[in-house]
Amino acid sequence: MCGIVGIIGTQEVAPRLIDGLRRLEYRGYDSAGIATLDGGVIARRRAKGKIVDLDARVREEPIGGATGIGHTRWATHGVPNEANAHPHANDRVAVVHNGIIENFQSLRDELLAQGHVFASDTDTEVVVHLISQIIGEGVDPIEATRRALSRLEGAFALGILLLDRPDVLIAARQGSPLAIGHGDGEMYLGSDALALAPMTRRITYLEDGDWAVLTTLGAMVRDLSGATVERPEHLTNLSGAMIGKGGHRHFMAKEIFEQPQVIGDTLNAMFNPTERTITLPPLPFDPAAVPRITMIACGTASLAGMVGKYWLEQHAGIPVDWDLASEFRYRAPVMTEGGLAVFISQSGETADTLAALRYCKQKGQHCLAIVNSPESTIAREAHAVLPTLAGPEIGVASTKAFTTQLVVLACLTIALARARGTMDRATEARLSGALTEVPSRAAEVLNHDERIREIAQETFTPARDVLYLGRGTSYPLALEGALKLKEISYIHAEGYAAGEMKHGPIALIDETVPVVVIAPSDELFEKTASNVQEVVARGGKAVVFSDAAGVERLKHLALEAIALPAVDPFVAPILYAIPVQQLAYHTAVDKGTDVDQPRNLAKAVTVE
Ligand code: AGP
Repeated sequence: MCGIVGIIGTQEVAPRLIDGLRRLEYRGYDSAGIATLDGGVIARRRAKGKIVDLDARVREEPIGGATGIGHTRWATHGVPNEANAHPHANDRVAVVHNGIIENFQSLRDELLAQGHVFASDTDTEVVVHLISQIIGEGVDPIEATRRALSRLEGAFALGILLLDRPDVLIAARQGSPLAIGHGDGEMYLGSDALALAPMTRRITYLEDGDWAVLTTLGAMVRDLSGATVERPEHLTNLSGAMIGKGGHRHFMAKEIFEQPQVIGDTLNAMFNPTERTITLPPLPFDPAAVPRITMIACGTASLAGMVGKYWLEQHAGIPVDWDLASEFRYRAPVMTEGGLAVFISQSGETADTLAALRYCKQKGQHCLAIVNSPESTIAREAHAVLPTLAGPEIGVASTKAFTTQLVVLACLTIALARARGTMDRATEARLSGALTEVPSRAAEVLNHDERIREIAQETFTPARDVLYLGRGTSYPLALEGALKLKEISYIHAEGYAAGEMKHGPIALIDETVPVVVIAPSDELFEKTASNVQEVVARGGKAVVFSDAAGVERLKHLALEAIALPAVDPFVAPILYAIPVQQLAYHTAVDKGTDVDQPRNLAKAVTVE
């Protein structure tokens, strides 16, 4: 959550800081600000709202300076307003912060007692006053910063400007990601490499406990004792061009439409077309020999993991536990010796998922990450990585990351099943063949976009509550459909296992509640069809996603029935994810909500 950008250079930085913040806006967007060292003073502009509001503010009252920091905020402490917007500053120190300073209250009390006056409700402002206090005691500003950092508890990434040292920009990382960018006579700071993409591809990732002093010529990275540490420089593949909307109205629409391509890219990295086999990249452990697997993730990624659980149990015969990272990390889970823990994350920075990974490492698990950001903390800390090749996902609602996570999990299932002797060559060829058809079938699904838009407008925009039902691997999709709809349209939606309906949710059904039924023609189809009968018998409006055979069977009951391409049931979850995304997208557009940056949400949840 929150985005940080910083530049120490020789040319005016304000416009470039704002440009960097635009690329980080997906991380948080309730207020924003910049501060620069401008002719012997700290100059600062902040605004409630989005980067356009900050931009307007800076145009009204420009600031100069060749060194500066910027921030886009997702509020933790203090409401989103200008006073709580970052950078926080006094006349000597300015700070931008991502994360939470857990001991801020005791530090604040101490600083108040020393006469410091606070201008915001944030935890961040203590950092400003703490550094100033130590400088005021006669300590060199950089050493004062180090001492202040050593007193902070919690998770943070910080960018710090010091009036008394205009030749430096300070960065610090403890638990929240932070990257240094190397330029030509300039150095940069960013909460991810995407923010820095148009300025440089040369990136150094700070590690927990690191703090760095940047000058125009380079960066000196130290640990908290003050000892110099070496951190490698990477060349990222990200480019500024990867973050446009490509002619679509929203990033989410672009990302939905990219799915045929990125599903194919992700699959091609593991599929051998001549032999019709799946080959995983070399792993530092034997995944087929593990006694048990634990799937751990948050939100949409966790629902990909739930599909993975169904697949792995059915095809590879491995017991699979499924856990939400936020629950897993605090319930002292018992791990089977030599087990495999699989962490799924688009951003690779989700705080709970990362904490669960660290717990599993301590418990001697083999840790495999399925991530979309190969340079992320989760990717770097896991023992092995299976990448999703979805490209940057900017829309807060996860779409192409989800379907590519499913592709990786499908490949993992096939590879483990083969290695464990639970899948013969013919079945492997059939299932991997079905996987290779998904990109073209996904393109066919996208052809329903206009019809889904009409259904969204007629049936979903007016709804107050929506139910999603599915069985087997369609159950996680029902959960995902409901999550997607509520996240961007703010309509209350629930996903249920269709067989659970009679155990409670059926009480909600009446003619005002649309019920989305995800029903591919698989071995559970008839059971789901009975549930559709039950919905309709109670006046419910069923909107069915099935294939031609299923639609034929249910069309007399359903208010709407969309026939998706017929596919092997194994790959159905990948395909059926797409219409539920389209439905949520068009409902949100029709309701006029902010599709790419829905209220209260942020793309990378780096606080727990
Ligand atoms: C999905 O639409 C969400 N915005 C959210 O649930 C997301 O999937 C979750 O926060 C996990 O993020 P990650 O994949 O980056 O770990």
